[in-house]
This record gives sequence, structure tokens and C-alpha cells, in this order.
Amino acid sequence: MTTILGLNAYHGDAAAALVVDGELVAAAEEERFNRIKHVAGFPALAARWALAEGGVAPEQLDHLAVSRDPRANVGQKLLRTIRHGPSARYLTARLRNAAKIRDVRTALADSLGVERGALRARVHNVEHHRAHVASAFFVSPFADAAVLSVDGFGDFCSTMTAVGHDNSFRVLERVLFPHSLGIFYTAVTQWLGFPKYGDEGKVMGLAPYGNPEKHLEAMRDIVQTSGNLFTLNLDYFTHHDEGVDMTWDEGSPTIGRIYSDRLVQALGPARESGDAMTSHYEDVAAAMQKRLEEVYLHIAGRLHESTGATNLCLAGGVALNAVANGRIRPETAFDGLYVQPAAGDSGTAVGAAYDVWNQTLGSPRAFVMTHAYTGPRFSDEELAAAFAAAGISARRLDNEELFRRVAERIAAGDVVGWFQDRMEFGPRALGHRSIVADPRRPDMKDVLNARIKHREPFRPFAPSILAEETAEWFEQDYTSPFMVLVYKTRPEKRELIPAVNHVDDTGRLQTVERDVSPRYYRLIEEFGRLTGVPILLNTSFNENEPIVRTPVEAVETFLKTHMDLLVLGNYVAERDGAGA
Ligand SMILES: [Fe+2]
Repeated sequence: MTTILGLNAYHGDAAAALVVDGELVAAAEEERFNRIKHVAGFPALAARWALAEGGVAPEQLDHLAVSRDPRANVGQKLLRTIRHGPSARYLTARLRNAAKIRDVRTALADSLGVERGALRARVHNVEHHRAHVASAFFVSPFADAAVLSVDGFGDFCSTMTAVGHDNSFRVLERVLFPHSLGIFYTAVTQWLGFPKYGDEGKVMGLAPYGNPEKHLEAMRDIVQTSGNLFTLNLDYFTHHDEGVDMTWDEGSPTIGRIYSDRLVQALGPARESGDAMTSHYEDVAAAMQKRLEEVYLHIAGRLHESTGATNLCLAGGVALNAVANGRIRPETAFDGLYVQPAAGDSGTAVGAAYDVWNQTLGSPRAFVMTHAYTGPRFSDEELAAAFAAAGISARRLDNEELFRRVAERIAAGDVVGWFQDRMEFGPRALGHRSIVADPRRPDMKDVLNARIKHREPFRPFAPSILAEETAEWFEQDYTSPFMVLVYKTRPEKRELIPAVNHVDDTGRLQTVERDVSPRYYRLIEEFGRLTGVPILLNTSFNENEPIVRTPVEAVETFLKTHMDLLVLGNYVAERDGAGA
């Protein structure tokens, strides 16, 4: 037996993943355990859980794979330091971070409560983007594929292209600091008044309200295509002087302002958080999103030309841009597309582990990540106990009654907390830690926002659809199991599902397959039988905190919000405390 623990440590979205004999047996983000959104630091709780889940004792661990390599791109780092002389503060922060990465074995031993000497695992440092590339290619269904990884930065690099064949890949090109598409998106997101780590997704939802043409030329001056890749016009940014000022102190990461006064000259005064959202800001968001898509499609198109590959694998935070991803198949020559469900940095824990398994150890590929249900699971007794502890009476229904009753309640307008099986890995709730509702109701978006989610009104809610029904309702029917692709809704269907049809008549859909997610499939199927609409509105099971992990957290969220029904496995409880 060969055991590999992959870690994303001391970087946003810290996470742990366990690979045993080439199979991904556990993966989860640290934020779900310590309840701090996007937490950086060391994934102590996730690592401890992953080993326990796989039944691997600390001394049985063979390999420890970390998705950071302080030696990667070190020549270019040094050159830049010599030329630009970064501030002492920046240098100290980077050195401290590198030192932590070097002593990851001690951090793991501390987390597991064992002596450092008890861990015999060999430590591997995998360059950040190599880990992203591995996370997409090695668990994809393709023997051959081009691979693209795009994010803010990791190990001094923001973009990597590669070509994969069987159990190895070859890096083609890199975009190094300070040029970065992720930084471009983050900078304009900050200017738009969304300063929090991970706010980029909000702006993607805002963009369809605006007219992209007004500021498109400005955006083309800010990001320019160059060869197969791109460069930033650094006049608009400050990160190249001071570095990306990312701090976390064991909490949620924050990034200091990275746009310059030149951006303010070009676009006008920045929006303060809480200011009214005007059409001007919507137009800027639209132009930025459009420019991102142009550059993304340019890179993908060139990657196809240079490799001749018919399949493309995507990872990196920018690969969570579902609108850009949705344009890949219609507008490039790629036929096959695989997006790592945890395309953000948590997925590098999976990638680092597979880089070791497939490339370092040379093992053949035998695993495809067809689902993201790799997180914690709970027994029937634990589900019942969570209700009992809160003094809520719940009824246990058999499957047939459960799916029928819950579907009826959704069709009647109820908002349902739906907690089943193993938690999802990655940012999306995919029907295991979800809140589900009726997509046919025009007011459902407002109901959810007012009662539970408290989100900006411009943000869309997503549809989950039975996979085989996709072509009936959307203009593309390529499988989208991880909610990372946006498709146009068919014109004749738009008014049937107003709660999940965005302002530009699109949906960031999840296609649900019977053998991948049988219980969620059955619920949607039952709702379809009742209503003729084989689609549910699916939003993550949380209020503002990280998505719930345990049944106790689910009950707490149920009690403090205004859901009508809570379903934990086969147990059902009403808002008023009575069993359904
Ligand atoms: Fe990354």
C-alpha cells in the first residue's frame, strides 16, 4: 500500500487530500473544520481527518506532498529582487513563509499529536502551478490533453500551460510575476468595492448587467495579449512594487489594494463597499469580464494550435470563472473539457499528491475524479443525535416517502436544507450540503436572499438538472457535474425557471447523474415528475460562514435562518420543530 498526503499549506484555501494506491479517498478544506472562510495557515484539522478517514496511522504515511516549492523559479525571483530591491517587510514575510513550507513535517507531527520522528513520510515540494496542472490532468478522463492553469500567483508564477500524456506532463510555458490574469480580476474587483478574498465570483455575477463595450478599450490597455500568453500594463497596478500584500495570521486571508491611481484615472473613483451599485460599475464589471474571456480564449486557442490536443484540462482560481469556461467548447477547437472541481488553491492538495503518485513514483493512471464527494460523512446515529441535541423532533422516512414528500414541499414553495452523504470538496455545494428550492418561482431569489443568504441582489442562483435533460433546457449539453460552466438557457424555457435564469439568460448549471449522486438525482427526478421541470435551485448550505460540514452545524444554520424543512439523510424536521 502506498499512502500520499497532499497539502495546500500557508496559502489561501488550505486543504488536505489523501491518495491511497492511486485512489483519492479523502479531500477537504480546512475552513470547513475551523470555520474561518478561505483560511490559510496549516491544514491541521483537515490533515488529521483525512488520515483517519483513510485509516492511515501517522507512521504508515509514505509521502507528504506540499503544493509549494520555494526553489521554483528561484532564478527569476532573485533577478527581480536584485533589480527592484523589494521592501524589507515584503522580503521578511516571504522568507518566513518559505521557512514554514520547509518545516511542514513538524507542523504535521504537531497536528497529529506525534513526535516528528514518528513521521517517516518523504516530503515532496511540488511547484504551485504544477500541482494545479496535476490536479486537473491526472484525475481527468483523458489519456492525452492540453492543460491550462491560471490564478493570482503561486511560487512566483500566475499561468502555466502544459501537455499531458498518460502519467506525465510537460510544462510548455509560464507567465511569471508580476503578470497575472488573477491579479487583473482581483484589482478591478477591489476597485468595484469588493475587497474580500474570494469576492471575484460576485463580480462575475454582476458583469451581465452591464454593457461591456464602454470600457473594453481601457481593459485592452490594462491586459494585452502577447505571443501565446499575455502581459499586464503595470502602470495600472501596485503589486509589482510591493508584492501582493497577502496576510492571514491564521485567519481569513486579506489582500491589500493592488490597483494604482492610473486605474482610477481611467475608470473614475473607486466604489466604496456599501455604495449604491450604478450602471457605471456594472459596465466596468462587464468590460473586465469580457476582457478576461478574450485573453482566456486567446490562450486556449493558442494552446490548441501548439499541441494539436483535442482535450483541455483547467485549474487555478481563474478556472472557477464559469462564464469563460462555458465559451471554451463552442469557441475553440477543444472537444473534451475537464475542470478540476476544486480549481482554486485547495485543489492543489489533490494535485500535489497525484504529481507524486504519477510522476515521481511513475505509477500508471487508474483513477478519474467523477465527483467531488470526498469529504466527511456521518452515521445515521449522528444525524439523529444532532436533532435530539437541539430538542427538535425529526421523523425518519424510508427512501420512497422521503423523496416524494420533500419534492412535494419544494414544489409548494418551501426552502429545504438538504444534507446527505459525504461533503463536497471545492467551493460549490453539489447536492450533499445544499439548500434547495423551486426554480419556477419568480420571487424565490428574493425569498432566499431575505430569509437565508443575505447576498447582493445581483448574484444569481444556480440550477441542478438531471444530466439527460440538459439539452432540453440549455443550449449546450456537455456534462457539467461541478458547476463550473455557464450555458445559455433555451429561449422557450427561460420563463419556466426564472429563479435560476440569470439576467443574460444563462445558468451556471450542475448536471446530475444517477450513478454519481443517486440521492440528489432521485430528489430532482421526483420534483420533475411532479412539476414537469427536472431542475432544482441549488445554493450552498450556509449563511455567511463556510459551508456546513457536520449535522450539528446544519441544525444550527437551520435554526438561525428561515428554512422550512431540514433533511439530514432520511430524517426530516419542520421549522416549528415537528417531524414532517
Ligand atoms: Fe493557485
